[in-house]
Amino acid sequence: MRSIIPDYLTEALGDVESDISGELAGYIPELAAADPERLGAVFAMVDGAVYGAGDIDTEFTIQSISKPFTYALALSDRGFDPVLAKVGVEPSGEAFNQISLESDTGRPLNPMINAGAITVHSLAGSEQLNPTERVERVVQGLSAFAGRALTVDEAVCASELEHAHRNLAIAHMLRSHDILTEDPRVAVDGYIRQCAVLVTARDLAMMAATLANRGVNPRTGEQVVREPVVRQVLSVMATCGMYDAAGDWATQVGIPAKSGVAGGLIGALPGQIGIATFSPRLDPHGHSVRGVTLFERFSADMGLHVM
Ligand code: DON
Repeated sequence: MRSIIPDYLTEALGDVESDISGELAGYIPELAAADPERLGAVFAMVDGAVYGAGDIDTEFTIQSISKPFTYALALSDRGFDPVLAKVGVEPSGEAFNQISLESDTGRPLNPMINAGAITVHSLAGSEQLNPTERVERVVQGLSAFAGRALTVDEAVCASELEHAHRNLAIAHMLRSHDILTEDPRVAVDGYIRQCAVLVTARDLAMMAATLANRGVNPRTGEQVVREPVVRQVLSVMATCGMYDAAGDWATQVGIPAKSGVAGGLIGALPGQIGIATFSPRLDPHGHSVRGVTLFERFSADMGLHVM
């Protein structure tokens, strides 16, 4: 088994390599400068075994894949009720950067879209933390999921901050509804810093495997979050993680998942495996083109469809 999986992964990567469709994330200039040819895939099993092929140790920014993990931290740090009072759990059926707020309460529909994730960032750590300490809590928490100390890519962070008008508009709407209670610029700054955390495909697979392993990192043995938190996070990934492609994903892949605009894509299967792929060209939903194809193949080949 240990020697067969890397061969399988190498073959799967070879089969998608020629697909150069899709675009880099042009709205963040620093991401538009990424090497579009990068390609990697990693399987992290809940027993700690890791198998990979291709660019599995290349660093890139986590982007929206930070959202389920920061949601887990907020649920752990504040409890379910305060978080659910501010952010719902319903699929929006809209793109990740739509406003998508409930008309009566102003709550963002779910934590996977930007409106929900900006709010969730503001709920990480204890209420007493200042914005710098809150970012530190998020980076420390993401690091615990990955099992190593992660850092922020300052260039990507600065690049996105210069063009953050849409996220700022969303945050101002959230502030107008008192969903955010702080300066919208502070919340967006922290959220963008969270998105600029550097990871590798190996890190992402381990983070996904920590979710698959009931919140315990399979390598370090650390219980990063409790089981009820993991259940909540996986449910929201299953229904909302792929935004306006969530239905297609559920039927064609059927694994709780999350994507990021730097080209990362993760899936987590409880009790089994964390999967990560990395390939920067994106489809119109903001998902890695080759990543989606790889997940479709993995799901079909190994019977991973659970949703
Ligand atoms: O807020 C943004 O637009 C980016 N920092 C993250 C978006 C993202 O990764 C969407 N997912 N595929």
